[in-house]
Amino acid sequence: MEEQGKRRRCLRRVVLVPFPFQGHINPILQLGSILHSKGFSITVVHAQYNSPDPSSHPDFSFVPLPNTSSAPDFTVEIVASTVQLNTNYKACFQECLAQVMSQQGSDEGIACIIHDELMYFSQAEAKDLKLPSISLTVGNAAHFLARSALIQLKAEGHIPFPESKSQDLVPELYPLRFKDLPILEKLESYLALVSKAFNNKASSPIIYNTIDFLENSSLKKIQHQWQVPIFAMGPMHRIASTSSSSLLEEDTSCLAWLDKQSCKSVIYVSLGSVAFMDIKELAEMAWGLANSHQPFLWVVRPGSVLGEELIEVLSEEFKKNIGERGYIVKWAPQKKVLAHVAVGGFLSHCGWNSTLESICEGIPMICRPCLVDQKVNARYVSHEWRVGLELEGDLERGEIKRAIKTLMVGEEGEAMREEAKKLKENVELCIKEGGSSYNSMNRLVEMIRSF
Ligand code: UDX
Repeated sequence: MEEQGKRRRCLRRVVLVPFPFQGHINPILQLGSILHSKGFSITVVHAQYNSPDPSSHPDFSFVPLPNTSSAPDFTVEIVASTVQLNTNYKACFQECLAQVMSQQGSDEGIACIIHDELMYFSQAEAKDLKLPSISLTVGNAAHFLARSALIQLKAEGHIPFPESKSQDLVPELYPLRFKDLPILEKLESYLALVSKAFNNKASSPIIYNTIDFLENSSLKKIQHQWQVPIFAMGPMHRIASTSSSSLLEEDTSCLAWLDKQSCKSVIYVSLGSVAFMDIKELAEMAWGLANSHQPFLWVVRPGSVLGEELIEVLSEEFKKNIGERGYIVKWAPQKKVLAHVAVGGFLSHCGWNSTLESICEGIPMICRPCLVDQKVNARYVSHEWRVGLELEGDLERGEIKRAIKTLMVGEEGEAMREEAKKLKENVELCIKEGGSSYNSMNRLVEMIRSF
């Protein structure tokens, strides 16, 4: 008995395995900060490219996986790249864990491995080593359910679907329409990945960076269908006291520019860390923003415009037209931007981190989803939570201008702002002592201590 108690006291280290992309690194490091504040030591086993900056997390240990310095090209083939990455990393993961075990104090064992769900190889490896593992889903619960339903939708002949069905509601997945489904181009190989990696209903416990009041019905369905403990403990960036985990340098000069703008007047525009546009779309966005006559802060990330080195391609005429009314940066301190009093709207690709960050600050959105879960998130933002509107079809300057006007100065936008304010208030309650996310966090901590 005493031996067992001693063993438990010693199991203090949690090993985190992030998927090497910004939108995945942020939440797993936030989770690491939460667990560190609860007394766990944290080791991050990570790829050598897109690697987190250890100096921003001095309390964590970082162990790079050998031979992982080149990134698979996710813009070409997401599924094949994910599979390849899992195969490559599997080979060196055990070696890394052995290193972790030999480096740490002799009285400290590994309590568990928490891996991004896309790093699914970690689960099998943990099992081999007889270590508990927990999966972190960085997207939301609705996307998780929609993705898991794809196999059956295919078996029933619902997907792929003709254009004429794109606006129809998907059976059992209200409010999603067929066009909102998180389908990737190479459907067969994507479904093979879903079935292999994500649809094992008796796998490990799952952590979601989501909030019970936002996704109660999806979470209940998952709890009913999956035979594992689940933890909805978002928004983790609000629970964790964490420094930035940006892979690109944040241009903080935009905060001084925001200080000069009037309250709720600025539309903030960012398509996250993966989505991209072509030159034509860039021009449409630029002129949509200019013609709206609304102040804007626009993130044009390096590499986000296909074939060009970004901001330099914006014409002199455009720059003259906007004058001081627009501010363009390569990467922004997004959470600070969204919390700034001058920001009144967010034109976003609806990555789940951006969506949650916007909800936390009570900022209504214009949704311009590009890939996978973003379409699900956009539908929930506009149709279910009613804190945004969706910009559909080709990106076109007239439509962009109209959407900005509707959101920033229209009556419809005012109603969305009111709803967004209510969501923000609810978020505050969930993260306080006794709130749903606060309680989930404590349940998770207890579970890890019990391993
Ligand atoms: C990816 C997927 O695309 C997304 O759909 C999924 O939900 C998570 O993984 P990404 O596209 O980068 O993420 O979007 P998002 O989830 O919004 O994450 C981007 C993160 O980068 C956010 O935390 C945001 O605050 C941060 N960011 C973005 C900045 O700090 N500065 C910027 O200028 C832009």
